[in-house]
Amino acid sequence: MSAAKLLADLHSAVPLVGPSLLACDFANVEREIRRLEDDGARILHLDIMDGLFVPNISFGLPVVEAVRRTTTLPLDVHLMITNPAQYVGPFRDAGADLITFHIETVAEPRPLLEEIRSLGAGAGITLNPPTPVERLEDCLDLCDLVLVMSVMAGFGGQKFDPVALEKLQWLRRRVGSQVLLSVDGGINAETVGPCAAAGADLFVTGTSLFSQDDYGSFIDELTALARVSKNDASKNDTQD
Ligand code: DX5
Ligand code: ZN
Repeated sequence: MSAAKLLADLHSAVPLVGPSLLACDFANVEREIRRLEDDGARILHLDIMDGLFVPNISFGLPVVEAVRRTTTLPLDVHLMITNPAQYVGPFRDAGADLITFHIETVAEPRPLLEEIRSLGAGAGITLNPPTPVERLEDCLDLCDLVLVMSVMAGFGGQKFDPVALEKLQWLRRRVGSQVLLSVDGGINAETVGPCAAAGADLFVTGTSLFSQDDYGSFIDELTALARVSKNDASKNDTQD
């Protein structure tokens, strides 16, 4: 599928919950993916950590390839690595549909965003909580997705940082509805609503989701909460 078609499909399906496999049962990845598919997941989020940019190591190319062989769901690959330019090609070859890298890891993001697009993937950029959102200003026209980190990249299970809300609002005003806005870290039934009201489309969730017995009910619950908050926020905007 072309990146344009995939992005159009994703835009038409928002709000979307993006399960982060970081918190899944790695002894049973295929079973976890089947459960997520059966329970309504429309995308999977894969966290790549190199032990350098972040103080943790997760998994790499062979796991992305194995996930690709297991599912046709779009793969949203979040690179937390020091040298993303070296790896966007290999991750695309491994099956990534969306490739997101950290602004903190590159001096000049535009060529890398262009390269990701030229590989036929959706191009994404992300930033950690301490990084000012204005740093993204000069490259937003080349982004298909912007991922706002609501925890420091590196570990699942951290507490949501509300600085993400201001960034989402700023981004939504800048990019209109053309760019997918994603939020990642500490997303649960309490935090999903404020993120949706602030403009997020895609809600990455790891720990909260995989601690449930019933993934489907949780995906449905988060989706419904996001929808209600987004509608309420747009009604308030209209009244203002
Ligand atoms: C953190 C990762 C996240 C993480 C989210 O560096 O980017 O995707 O898995 O997990 P929770 O939902 O546990 O915060
Ligand atoms: Zn992530």
